[in-house]
Amino acid sequence: MMNHTDFSLRLLEWYGNNGRQLPWRQTTDPYRIWISEVILQQTRVAQGYDYFLRFIQRFPDVMSLAAASEDEVLRLWQGLGYYSRARNLHAAALQIRQLGHFPDTYEDIRRLKGVGDYTAAAIASLAFGLPHAVVDGNVFRVLARYFGIDTPIDSSAGRRLFAALAQEMLVSERPADYNQAIMDFGALQCVPKSPQCEACPLSETCQAFAEGRVGQLPVKQHVARVRERFFTYVYVRCKGEILLQRRPAGDIWQGLHQPAMLESECPLSASEVREWLGCKGRLTLLRSDVRHQLTHQLLHADFYLFEPPMRPSLPGQWIKESERDHYAVPRLVEQLYESVSE
Ligand code: ADE
Repeated sequence: MMNHTDFSLRLLEWYGNNGRQLPWRQTTDPYRIWISEVILQQTRVAQGYDYFLRFIQRFPDVMSLAAASEDEVLRLWQGLGYYSRARNLHAAALQIRQLGHFPDTYEDIRRLKGVGDYTAAAIASLAFGLPHAVVDGNVFRVLARYFGIDTPIDSSAGRRLFAALAQEMLVSERPADYNQAIMDFGALQCVPKSPQCEACPLSETCQAFAEGRVGQLPVKQHVARVRERFFTYVYVRCKGEILLQRRPAGDIWQGLHQPAMLESECPLSASEVREWLGCKGRLTLLRSDVRHQLTHQLLHADFYLFEPPMRPSLPGQWIKESERDHYAVPRLVEQLYESVSE
């Protein structure tokens, strides 16, 4: 067995020399740490950075977030994906306002809407200096490789094992530094593909490196199947107004908006689209098979522009085209907007 202390201390030393200076690291404000951690779930630092700054500028504290509408929060989140994160942030801000203060124990933080084990441990350690180890994708990878563990990370045995090991490795006097060290190490050095093990300060005592198994770890038992879906979007414009629909609960992009959209089992022909629209007007195909990859879904989208002389009877609300940016839309719809104005 490797020397655990050695692992943790080398990690801290590496972090001292290589850790990133990030805006949410200059603070122990639990609000800012919470926002940054939620943004950074499912989002890389490079992409999340500007969103964090804009979010904090618009909503500098819990009270301003609680006072906003969910729609405004979604609009600020536009393009980041996983929109339930934004809805949960807003709901949790209301919980905190009700509580009267930001919760300051792991258990109380964990009760906030949308806050799971990872986020609770991150806030507890980074904001309050509490000894809770985080376990995210980076931590799974670093621990699985360093200790040569092939228990699947998506099994309950694996989750238990890695959570216990992470907690055992935590340098409890420096939980904030330790947690950020292991996450940065996973993000910068022990990367998923082709890590530079020759230049790694932990490779000497890394089990996977010794066994030539770095590329095989960590192990997952389930390979996510990707579902393919076909969306036909029609940008219906009539007398300076366009039709927008709000996406329902229970599917991707809940609460965001979109032009008229029809989902089908396979791509639709232009005549099928015309039949669906059910009225006369100029129908132009703007782009076909625009692909949009989500975690478990591959979307294929066709974009049409439809300009009827009279409003067709389709579900949704008519809004001024000039006010379309007031409505949060997924990135795919932004692409449709771009092709309309080309
Ligand atoms: N990814 C998510 N949160 C992080 C943090 N605090 N430090 C490094 N990487 C992260």
